Amino acid sequence: MRAAAEVDPAAARPRIHFTPQANWMNDPNGLIFHDGLYHLYFQYNPLGADHGNMSWGHATSADLVSWREHPVALLFDEHEQVFSGSMVSDAGNTSGLGTAEHPPLVAVYTSARRDGLQAQSLAVSLDGGYTWEKYAGNPVLDRGSADFRDPKVFRYAGADDAYWVMVAVEAAERRVLFYRSDDLLSWTYLSDYGPAGAVGGVWECPDLFPLPYVSGAGSAAGVRWVLLVSLYPGGVAGGSATQYVVGEFDGIRFVPDVAHPCVDADAAELDGLDWVDLGPDCYAGVTFAGLPTGQRTLIAWMSNWDYAKRVPTSPWRGAMTMARRLALRCVEGRARLVSTPVLGREAGVLEGVPAGGSVDDVLPEAARIDLEVDGAAMAEVRLGDAERCVVVTVSGAERFVRVDRRRAVFEDVSDAQGVQRAALPAGAVQRVTIVVDNGSVEVFAGEGLVAVTALTSLPPAPGLHLTATGAVRLGVAELGDSGLRGAGLGGSGS
Ligand code: FRU
Repeated sequence: MRAAAEVDPAAARPRIHFTPQANWMNDPNGLIFHDGLYHLYFQYNPLGADHGNMSWGHATSADLVSWREHPVALLFDEHEQVFSGSMVSDAGNTSGLGTAEHPPLVAVYTSARRDGLQAQSLAVSLDGGYTWEKYAGNPVLDRGSADFRDPKVFRYAGADDAYWVMVAVEAAERRVLFYRSDDLLSWTYLSDYGPAGAVGGVWECPDLFPLPYVSGAGSAAGVRWVLLVSLYPGGVAGGSATQYVVGEFDGIRFVPDVAHPCVDADAAELDGLDWVDLGPDCYAGVTFAGLPTGQRTLIAWMSNWDYAKRVPTSPWRGAMTMARRLALRCVEGRARLVSTPVLGREAGVLEGVPAGGSVDDVLPEAARIDLEVDGAAMAEVRLGDAERCVVVTVSGAERFVRVDRRRAVFEDVSDAQGVQRAALPAGAVQRVTIVVDNGSVEVFAGEGLVAVTALTSLPPAPGLHLTATGAVRLGVAELGDSGLRGAGLGGSGS
């Protein structure tokens, strides 16, 4: 292990978070589990480390932890940039773009056209997602709008009908629009949702999906629908963030369980809304197609439009969050999203910290740190040294978790973007998992209710210093397989 001081944090590539070998990356696109592999496409500039020439890069993984990058899937051209979107497996060849024997994968993306308008377009792959052709009849849905983007398409199965549903945004109007189609080629307007909830910025990258839900003791199991909407600015930690709303979708219209008034920038009111992550660096989060209902899995872009263009990493700029499995839990009578990171490794052995004592350790470059903090206890974990550090505080008595990166971030950030404090539900024990990798920390607490993701400028393999008051247990486990990461551009991957 190299001594921390020798390595420039900006050159230390994350080990378990996906980064492109070189150049700019933002949103995850076209997430799909297909033929036993997770496919991650992403907003990518093949020509440089700034946002521009937007295209879809491509990577695959068998386990959501180690990724292999492939050649660019969808390239910008003289007419358009290829903005965010989604992907479906058209198993019934409803589009006629494949054959019954070789059904197509269909990518639905936003054509950000040279004339300034945004419309929805298709691309087709007949080799399982490695090579792509844009559809000759593009665009397939054009409202003559300059801000109509980020289509998420899924198959909706109603009582006696099944069809494709598209969810997309009129970004500047803070509206999510719903359309339907039988063939992915022609689309009919159904309804829309918003403005409501957080509206302090443009709405982007929506997603809509059902999750199993049990509303309370003894009640029947059912399903609620979750609508994700990213916005920038106006997020809970300043800048970008992904909010969610739980409700009912009947194939036509989304009706929220709780009608939210519009909230612009009032911090207290933003805290009262529901967020996928309370940290500053979890944006444009969307979920995979092609997984069973119980395995709904999200990946987000681990950055913030407030400073994404100034993140000093090189030769890449942009990383994804760890994948997170989502579920609903009834908390104080209403459905809340809970997330569990997919880390490929269980917690290490938890060992008691002597009361009033402390522990020092050196972490591997990618690690999970698991803490158990008893109801009356308190733990403070410092990653790094006194000068450059991230501090995670867990209070069982006061029931909060706090993540402070102000002394380990690549530029001056406001306190709102430097420190997040989240309330924890009552419990005899608070369990917290901290995922540390080069350039980031992700903190999970409250049995999945709380996630806080933040970019950092900690040196690789930082020191860990834990101080405890009361009964605290600590476990550290190395994550990832350092030998396999960063294998470089692959071929077809098949
Ligand atoms: C979100 C976003 C999307 C758009 C894409 C362009 O971060 O602004 O709305 O499609 O990025 O790269």
